[in-house]
Amino acid sequence: MNKAAFFAPLLRGAIITKTGVPWIVSSVINTIGNGSQGVNSTGQNPSAALWVDAGETTAQDEKTLADIFAKALSSAPLTAENKIPARICVKSGGEEYHYLSAPDFAGIEKIRQGAQAEGWDIVPAATHTPCSPISTLAPSRADVVKNRIALVTGGAQGFGEELTRGLIASGALVFIADLNLIGAEKLAQTLNAEYGKPVAFPAGVNVSDEDSVRAMIENITLTAGGLDLCVSNAGVLRAASILEQDIESFKFVTEVNYTAFAVVSKHCALLMKRQHAAAPAWTTDIIQINSKSGLDGSNKNGSYAGSKFGGIGLVQSFAKELVEYGIKVNAICPGNFFDGPLWSDPVKGLFVQYLNTGKVPGAKTVAEVKAFYEAKVPMNRGCTGPDVLRAALYLVEQVYETGQALPVTGGQVMLS
Ligand SMILES: NC(=O)c1ccc[n+]([C@@H]2O[C@H](COP(=O)([O-])OP(=O)(O)OC[C@H]3O[C@@H](n4cnc5c(N)ncnc54)[C@H](O)[C@@H]3O)[C@@H](O)[C@H]2O)c1
Repeated sequence: MNKAAFFAPLLRGAIITKTGVPWIVSSVINTIGNGSQGVNSTGQNPSAALWVDAGETTAQDEKTLADIFAKALSSAPLTAENKIPARICVKSGGEEYHYLSAPDFAGIEKIRQGAQAEGWDIVPAATHTPCSPISTLAPSRADVVKNRIALVTGGAQGFGEELTRGLIASGALVFIADLNLIGAEKLAQTLNAEYGKPVAFPAGVNVSDEDSVRAMIENITLTAGGLDLCVSNAGVLRAASILEQDIESFKFVTEVNYTAFAVVSKHCALLMKRQHAAAPAWTTDIIQINSKSGLDGSNKNGSYAGSKFGGIGLVQSFAKELVEYGIKVNAICPGNFFDGPLWSDPVKGLFVQYLNTGKVPGAKTVAEVKAFYEAKVPMNRGCTGPDVLRAALYLVEQVYETGQALPVTGGQVMLS
């Protein structure tokens, strides 16, 4: 493994333990976003405010290294002033691994752009209000994810885009991971311009390809130092009768909705576990965007419903295993997102398809098809991005629950 990526979450965990708040630890060889490649903005190796000797190799276990980082951060001058160095160098096996450190990415940019020249080489930890379970409660629901590092798969459109926007509005830094890299880049660009600072990073990924997921996680680690929240949202739907569906399309749906969730969970959990070695009181979250079809079968849509039911089995199993590392694993089961592209796309959306195939008897317009489906919901409307965001923030804030499947269906599906 890339040693810079190996050390980063341990360093980040040690800083979180010291400050009680999320932190960015960015390797100067980061590969996503605005990072310089191997050198700082002046073209020279940055000088560090803190040097840590991590010994010869990474053969040392995570806990031992976590202790080394914790000890270095508690060195006398830093403790006295309650400060976190903005430039940190880890020495190991004759190599130097340089990192920039700040509470958010705007701070990292400030250091990159020469804040060293202004003498800004340490960050006062005490100026940041703790908003994590390490302290007590978040000051408000909106602060639950403030400065947390989040990953949203399938983040370029639909529910993924809504969640990306909502998490950023709540103060998170979001990696928008999508097969559609151009869409992810466009959205990141829009959001970074809107907020006037780096809040979103595009990441091309195919979640059903393990090498692609591994590379994405390594890039996130080098860019931000760790991960607090994974929203596994990428999903596909190919509705068909079991009497007619070709088995390849059945397998495709299973691969993306079920197997890829396991692949993404595996690599996120490996990173979160390493961070946890240095931040044992810090909780992290994996949230699967499941579906009401994961709780209740779906007529002529078995591949989708089966993959989502299976997802809940994985959520419960991973929750039991990963609780040891402070990782909560839960699912959100939204109802139909009628205003999203899956349903409302004017060319290939489900409303148009159902109108053309006469699936809704008597319906003559898209509006009539929509009204037919809305009438199935006790609250008489489809699910929206903010509905799902509210559930995600609840799951992050709730530190005494894991392995649950939370319906957000306007009463259409009720748990028994
Ligand atoms: N739309 C709904 O009514 C609805 C209802 C309940 C649950 N859901 C679930 O919400 C999630 C998002 O659904 P949506 O309707 O917003 O979808 P969408 O089709 O609008 O967007 C899905 C995104 O995932 C990306 N993606 C697809 N395959 C990928 C892969 N292999 N690797 C990386 N990215 C990939 C796509 O490029 C796209 O940007 C899915 O898991 C879906 O099952 C949707």
